[in-house]
Amino acid sequence: MQGLTLKADLHLHTREGEAFIAYGARELIDRAAEQGFDVLSITNHDTLTFDRELADYARERGILLIPGVEATVEGRHVLIYNPDVHPGQIRSFAALRRYRRPDWLVVAPHPFYPGSICLGRRLLREIDLFDAVELSHFYTRRIDFNRPAIRLARDARRPLLGSSDAHLSEQLGTTYSLIEAQPTVASVLSAIRAGQVRIVTRPLALWEFVAIATRLGLATAHESARRACARWAPAGRVQRRDWESHGGGAIAGLEAHESEERAAKVPATPSIG
Ligand SMILES: [Fe+2]
Repeated sequence: MQGLTLKADLHLHTREGEAFIAYGARELIDRAAEQGFDVLSITNHDTLTFDRELADYARERGILLIPGVEATVEGRHVLIYNPDVHPGQIRSFAALRRYRRPDWLVVAPHPFYPGSICLGRRLLREIDLFDAVELSHFYTRRIDFNRPAIRLARDARRPLLGSSDAHLSEQLGTTYSLIEAQPTVASVLSAIRAGQVRIVTRPLALWEFVAIATRLGLATAHESARRACARWAPAGRVQRRDWESHGGGAIAGLEAHESEERAAKVPATPSIG
């Protein structure tokens, strides 16, 4: 059967993963539907933001939602799609090698950008684990850390996948992929493995590049300060504040406390992440 051309962004973040992000998963899906996207994956850090209800919500808006996560593997970010184990079990490349199945898709996000969270040369050693390499939206005509990724993808015969890594609404739509596939998880992932992908991208204007970097830098600093305050505040006081802000109730208080703990476990977000 001939594939359709599906507009896809498979590297997206939402408030469910990082508190500073202005939109939740449903708002992101609404916005992406307005922009004509057919396929999305919400890839929060070490958190799977996917369930049947959310997939149904997306489907009702014409969007196939693919389960995905940006896992932290030995301190490096790795995009994993269609995983059937908890991200917490994939903390090492050995574990990734052990657990990964043929129906997963594993992608190297922004591999040669500055920062210890990027795979860098480690990708060369672990290339057998990766199905594709990301081309990130975050570049200008003069500043472009995608170039070594493009060379590696060519040399290692891996397809490039364009995505926005959006943490801000203005990042969505700057770079995306057109995938020749049927609108099912299996068909989309297999089409990417087979290289049936075209990338639509444009370099950011310098002012856009600086504005995005500044907004993400400020948000990251604010989030780090918030987490530091949460760590230093006496536990009882944090719980009482959360109780009050959620309108009381044991479950509301517990959920808020758990989300603080979860946030504390998520690594600080760099400008590329
Ligand atoms: Fe990311």
